[in-house]
Order: sequence, then structure tokens, then C-alpha cells
Amino acid sequence: MDDGMKGAYLPGNSTVELRQVPVPEPGHGEVLIRMKASTICGSDIRCIYHEHLGKGPEGYQGFIAGHEPSGQIVKTGPGCRRFGEGDRVIVYHISGCGVCNDCRRGYMISCTSVKYRRAYGWQRDGGMADYLLAEEKDLIYLPDELSYADGAQVACGFGTVYEGLQKIGISGNDSVLITGLGPVGLATAALCRQLGARKIIGIEVIEERMKLARELRLCDEVLASGADNVAQVRKLTAGTGVERAVDCSANDAARATAIRATRKWGKIVFLGEGGRVEFNPSPDIIHDQKTVFGSWVTSTWLMEELVERLVRWNLHPADLVTHRFALDRVGEAYALMASGKCGKVAVCFDEELELR
Ligand SMILES: NC(=O)c1ccc[n+]([C@@H]2O[C@H](COP(=O)([O-])OP(=O)(O)OC[C@H]3O[C@@H](n4cnc5c(N)ncnc54)[C@H](O)[C@@H]3O)[C@@H](O)[C@H]2O)c1
Ligand SMILES: [Zn+2]
Ligand SMILES: [Zn+2]
Repeated sequence: MDDGMKGAYLPGNSTVELRQVPVPEPGHGEVLIRMKASTICGSDIRCIYHEHLGKGPEGYQGFIAGHEPSGQIVKTGPGCRRFGEGDRVIVYHISGCGVCNDCRRGYMISCTSVKYRRAYGWQRDGGMADYLLAEEKDLIYLPDELSYADGAQVACGFGTVYEGLQKIGISGNDSVLITGLGPVGLATAALCRQLGARKIIGIEVIEERMKLARELRLCDEVLASGADNVAQVRKLTAGTGVERAVDCSANDAARATAIRATRKWGKIVFLGEGGRVEFNPSPDIIHDQKTVFGSWVTSTWLMEELVERLVRWNLHPADLVTHRFALDRVGEAYALMASGKCGKVAVCFDEELELR
């Protein structure tokens, strides 16, 4: 480990810089993780890769990228209480102060400490490197039944979706509309299926993603995005619309479709970030008694619950990975994800690179 490691940085002009840096040494309560899988999120592309959106403590601060890491502990610092060398782990992607109200609830995403809240891949080094330094309190056990590429998608992707679906509730009573079939939308479809939803309708603009949703049998109906989407969804649901809708597109028109194609008393959750939406409160939500939720990431305890469910359901998030790259080719990985002509894109190491 003495000769250092490689780490990927995002200068914000749609390129990736691979630099040689020292391997970090775990301090008190910290672990050193040999990276095995590090997946790319839509947020990385939108907020860091193309340009550095978000300023101040919430912005990208020039650290090693990658907020969806999974790997194996190779070294522990003093004072670790639960995790040890050899453990397979998932990293909750935001390290919080640990003692504010949000952190105590497990929602480090909304940690209120300006000084201590630091997201991996944004304000502290992330998973696009040979090794990652993480705090023990941010770790979740990765069961043997799940691969590292499964694990990498649990925190930000599947965890975010699982949280959002808890808010609106999904059961065998429901038909569900998903707007945007990127990795988050596809994860929504996969989880809705396990939670019992009977008719899952997806809307997307990119052909490759529509095809993936059909081929993996994640959606029962896949529609091309268009002005007549609301009428199409109503036609597929006995004229009334879906009980539940999840926006994973962040697109103005698609968000409005998610609201309007939902039936009376229905529930909608917005996961897609950024952008805006325009709708008419009285006809679109008030008179039809609809509820619109927003949902941001998830908590450590819900992630632990989700990991247990994934094993029980034999559901493998890695099925959404269409492309795996070695760290040396990380630039190609980001370019592909930015093109959208793919499912989930993963940078993989060791045995995880050989899979599929
Ligand atoms: N709420 C959270 O905590 C949270 C967590 C993770 C990601 N996100 C956000 O969720 C969104 C999805 O993430 P992703 O990784 O899948 O990103 P992505 O950009 O790969 O996926 C978005 C998809 O929406 C599609 N789309 C765009 N316009 C559309 C339209 N009019 N109709 C239908 N589809 C349309 C795009 O083609 C794309 O496939 C992003 O905005 C991301 O920032 C939110
Ligand atoms: Zn993310
Ligand atoms: Zn905190």
C-alpha cells in the first residue's frame, strides 16, 4: 500500500482526472476499505461532472468522487466497536456529526452540523479510488448473499426509493406510475414489484432505458414520454389513473404527469432532484384529495432493513448494472452514464470486475 493509490476527481467540465494519492491511515473510529464496487448516480452527473452546482458546505469540494461505495475492510483504527478486518460493508453516503437530532434518527443526510456533515464523494473522499477511509458509524453490513455491486446501490439508489415508497405505501392494491426510468426509476419498479404492486407503468425518453425496463420485466407497460401520457395512463387503469406515482425524472412535464395521472386520494412522491414543476393546485391535487410527498435519501436503520429484505426477496440491485469498468477507465464510465444509454454504471475492483 506504500506506493499510494489512484483516485478520480471531477473538475466540472465533463472530464475525469485520475490522480496518484497516498493511501489514508484510519484514525480513531475509522476503517480503511478496499473498494470493490462504486456506482455512478444521476446526481454526480448533474451536480459535479458537467459543472459544479451547489455552493458552500453542500457543494463538491474537490475530493475523490463517488458516493455509492461498497467494499471490504482491510484495516481498522483504534476504538472501532462493531466492524473489523474482512467485513463486507456498504457505506451510508453522508457522514454526519452523529449527535444532532437528525443523526440520532439515522438521517445523516440532514445532519445540522455545518462543521461535521460531509458527504462521501463531495466534501470528503469517496469510492472512486482503490481505498476509502470511512467512519465506522456510517457502515452497514453487506450479507454474503449480496454482491458488492448490489451493495453499492443500496444507500443512494435503492435506499432512497425504499424510503420514498414507505411514505406513500405500496401494496397489492396499487397500480404505480414511474416517471423517469434511470437507475432510480428502475429501482422503484423492482421494489414496487416486491411490495406487491400489480400494474407498474413507466415513462421514459431514452430508448435504451425503455428497453431495459421491458427486458428485465420491471414494468408492465413502458410509454414514451409525450403530451398524451396522462390519457394513456388513465386508459391503462380503467379510466381513473394510478393509486401511486413516483417521479424519478426531475423533469417539469413528467412531474406534472405524475400528479395528473394519479387518481383521487392517490399519493405521489418526488425523488428526482433539481428543476421545477408547474401544476394547478385546485384541479390537480386539492379537489382530488391527493398528497404529494418529497423524500430525501434514507436512514441507516432503514438501509439495514432493506438489506435484509433484498436477501429475503432474492432481489439483486446489480441486475440494473449494464456496464462495469476498471478504475483506469473511470472516464469512460462517467461519459457513458452522462449519455444515458445504459442502466447503472459501476467502477469495479478485483473479483467484482469479473462478474457478468
Ligand atoms: N431524493 C433523493 O434523495 C435522491 C437520491 C438519489 C438520486 N436522486 C435524483 O433522482 C433522479 C434520478 O436519478 P438517476 O440516477 O436515475 O438519474 P438519471 O438522470 O439517470 O435518470 C433520470 C431519467 O429521467 C428521464 N427523463 C427525463 N425527462 C423525462 C420525461 N419528460 N419523461 C420521462 N422521463 C424523463 C431521463 O431520460 C433519465 O433516464 C435524479 O434527479 C437524481 O438526482 C434523488
Ligand atoms: Zn446518489
Ligand atoms: Zn448530525
